[in-house]
Amino acid sequence: MKVAIVGTGYVGLVTGACLAEIGHEVLCIDNNEEKIKILKSGKMPIYEPGLDELVEKNVKAKRLKFSTDIKEGVKAAELLFVAVSTPPLPDGSADLCYVEAVSKEIAENMTDYRIVVSKSTVPVETGMWIKRTIEKYAPKGVEYDVASNPEFLREGKAISDFLNPDRIVIGVESDRARKKMLELYSPLKDRTHILVTNIESAELIKHASNSFLALKISYINAVANVCEKTKADIKEVALGMGFDKRIGKDFLEAGAGFGGSCFPKDLSAFIKIAERLGYDFKLLKEVQDINRKQADLIVQKVKDNFMTLNGKTIAVLGLAFKPDTDDMRNAPSIDIIKKLIQEGARIRAYDPVATENAKHAIGQEGSVLYHSDMYSAVKGAEAILILTDWGEFKEMDFDRLKKELGAKLTIIDGRNMFEPAQMKELGINYIGIGR
Ligand code: NAD
Ligand code: UGA
Repeated sequence: MKVAIVGTGYVGLVTGACLAEIGHEVLCIDNNEEKIKILKSGKMPIYEPGLDELVEKNVKAKRLKFSTDIKEGVKAAELLFVAVSTPPLPDGSADLCYVEAVSKEIAENMTDYRIVVSKSTVPVETGMWIKRTIEKYAPKGVEYDVASNPEFLREGKAISDFLNPDRIVIGVESDRARKKMLELYSPLKDRTHILVTNIESAELIKHASNSFLALKISYINAVANVCEKTKADIKEVALGMGFDKRIGKDFLEAGAGFGGSCFPKDLSAFIKIAERLGYDFKLLKEVQDINRKQADLIVQKVKDNFMTLNGKTIAVLGLAFKPDTDDMRNAPSIDIIKKLIQEGARIRAYDPVATENAKHAIGQEGSVLYHSDMYSAVKGAEAILILTDWGEFKEMDFDRLKKELGAKLTIIDGRNMFEPAQMKELGINYIGIGR
């Protein structure tokens, strides 16, 4: 099938490459000329494991192309995906200006039946607004459908998540659109559940799912706080809870809290749309609050090691909001590092891939020194703070660290990567979360 995707960011590019991989002809469109230039030159504008090979393969096979022109996409493809960002407005609600602009431009260029599919994460009833926008700007008599097809991929695992999803959700209101969407995903139908709903349910499934996952994380962080007051160990508690299939073992890792481009913004957007519809979603406000307080908790754990933090050097290992990505959007490291600096600490930071983005996100020139490997970052520091559970940290050479550090090796592990008993045996002052 011929598909055009407007918005070639994390989601648009992964969707484009994966749809090409399962046999479709895809045009990825973006109004960021620089991004399209990079892609046309065979390079990647983002870091996502395996994406460069997949893009290269499908470009070579002529199933994947890039453009800055929406008109070209509307002309070529019957299925038009909208995968632009939906960032938060100052009050927390989703800014739909990009979705609106793209819907308008698609509508203005339509001459024949088209299906406009929202892949962006949007508040419930956005589909209705996309429809109204198209109605307003499309030439008279041109037929169209609107659909919702929320995306559930995770950064760092985006390709396997897209190609082997737990479910595909399709929100439609016509049989014609339903058939086309099912045809699009038919190569994946034997590996997953395909759920067809109305547009509103599909939109809500996305916000409700992300918020539930965020709730699970805040819940386990709250339980970890209780564990710290007793001899209970959150790792054992989470394991014991997770064996219950109704609870499930995933997303029960206590730590520095959730960040990223989605959970924080989607939680706020869900709270706001609920408020607009007349429901006060207090439960989710508490989820946000617990997450905010995790940053304070980590800072306190660092502070507890010193008479005063003023003038102390802390090595921060891991800056990205999670491993296997260079994404710094809402990374817990930003808030935590800023708070440590406010207390007078100096930071030596290391991340395997997110350093360049971190420089922009954290700023604080002078107070943060960035290093290209973990051992140079810890040189002369008085404590190590782990904020992202990058695989390479698992392999750290503790003897070497002991030599590099300017004091007894202290590790504040914001991601519970190590076992306290083992650390004790190695003579390391180890502080985890809820352990
Ligand atoms: P992104 O910022 O990486 O990409 C969005 C792209 O849209 C940018 O390249 C931007 O230049 C482009 N764009 C904006 N306006 C445009 C216009 N008028 N014409 C053409 N291109 C335009 O965002 P993202 O992370 O890919 O997220 C996109 C949507 O998908 C959001 O709603 C997000 O919540 C949702 N989502 C993201 C993820 C994720 O892991 N990043 C996962 C699931 C869902
Ligand atoms: C999340 C969802 O997992 C995806 O299904 C969804 O498509 C995406 O948001 C989105 O809508 O954009 P992502 O943000 O890439 O994906 O990352 P996650 O793996 O979900 O992690 C989010 C944050 O939660 C990270 O900061 C991570 O460190 C934290 N986390 C995760 C925990 O603190 N504990 C856990 O047990 C799991």
